[in-house]
Amino acid sequence: MKALILSGGKGTRLRPLTYSGAKQLVPVANQPILWYGIKSIVGTGITEIGIIISPETGEEVRAVTGNGDRFGAKITYILQEQPAGLAHAVKVAQPFLGDSPFIMYLGDNIIESQLESFLAGFKNQNLDALILLRQVSNPSAFGVAKVDASGRVLQLVEKPKEPPSNLALVGVYLFSRGIHEAIANIKPSARGELEITDAIQWLIDKQKPVEARTLEGWWLDTGKKDDLLEANRIILDTRIVPSVMGTVDDKSQVIGRVQIGAGSKVVNSSIRGPAIIGENCYLENCFIGPYTSIADRATLIDADLEHSVILQGAKIERIQQRLVDSVIGRRAQLTVALKRPKALRFMIGDDSQIELV
Ligand code: DAU
Repeated sequence: MKALILSGGKGTRLRPLTYSGAKQLVPVANQPILWYGIKSIVGTGITEIGIIISPETGEEVRAVTGNGDRFGAKITYILQEQPAGLAHAVKVAQPFLGDSPFIMYLGDNIIESQLESFLAGFKNQNLDALILLRQVSNPSAFGVAKVDASGRVLQLVEKPKEPPSNLALVGVYLFSRGIHEAIANIKPSARGELEITDAIQWLIDKQKPVEARTLEGWWLDTGKKDDLLEANRIILDTRIVPSVMGTVDDKSQVIGRVQIGAGSKVVNSSIRGPAIIGENCYLENCFIGPYTSIADRATLIDADLEHSVILQGAKIERIQQRLVDSVIGRRAQLTVALKRPKALRFMIGDDSQIELV
């Protein structure tokens, strides 16, 4: 069994962060989104992982993620020249996949469930495809499945205006080598992509064994700012183990589950978990509220924030208002001179500079 993680594409919905970086490397609780998928795959015992990368962001994905040693896996990077669809990515990966069955994992998805039980079902029943479904309130934003009373998949449609159900396709799929024949037989969709939903539909139409399981537990597709903040909230809530490697002075208070990385300094500040502060950060006169992630080398002085994600090297100074529900890009600088509104809600791109004067 092999794994294929899709980390190409354009990442348009997370702009401006993705103008200067891969969306799959945006951190959730200070770890690239992509790494959660790699870790859950390795957790099943699969160690041969192919990662689809794009010409624009591929080198960064490769540099940050490496050859797999840190995960106990062997990672092969596969260049997809154009973001021509999920099924196109599988086609490009065919030389890596060979005849092996594989798990396909979308690099911007994070799921709570262990993958083992899905893998076991897939193998025991000799399926050509096993898909995961989850009820959602906005099915039009996803691939949607129509299933019969026994749970058999009848039809799959990609982002339908009028969804046949509220069952969305989760970005984790299991395939036998039969998927390659299916992909060879489909045509690009109206939006010009080779759709994996069409390939699975081809298998269904040919009466091949395709099954669906309903996913229990949470599933996060980190496509947009609010999805990212929600992913951050859930991961901080469920996976943060308190540890303080940096220094916290006597005038500071650290309450609840908080991680503070090596080389970070906390001066006259109050931090309420769950929260994570990376390495070599400097915090002075700050209130850091729950559900906040601060990445390495950030500087925060006279700042008050909660439920926010601050990326590497960002600088926030003298904000009198509380920053909430915000994502601040790498090296962005936010300085305030005057008292102004009660709440500020931002999504600021990498290298932005904002001054409220
Ligand atoms: O998140 C679940 C949804 O993911 C499913 O419900 C949909 O059926 C499925 O099509 C997909 O929809 P998205 O619109 O979220 O796909 P997105 O374009 O964001 O791509 C998903 C991942 O695959 C992302 O990490 C980028 C990568 N990708 C995408 C394309 C189109 C590639 O590596 N190559 C590509 O050509």
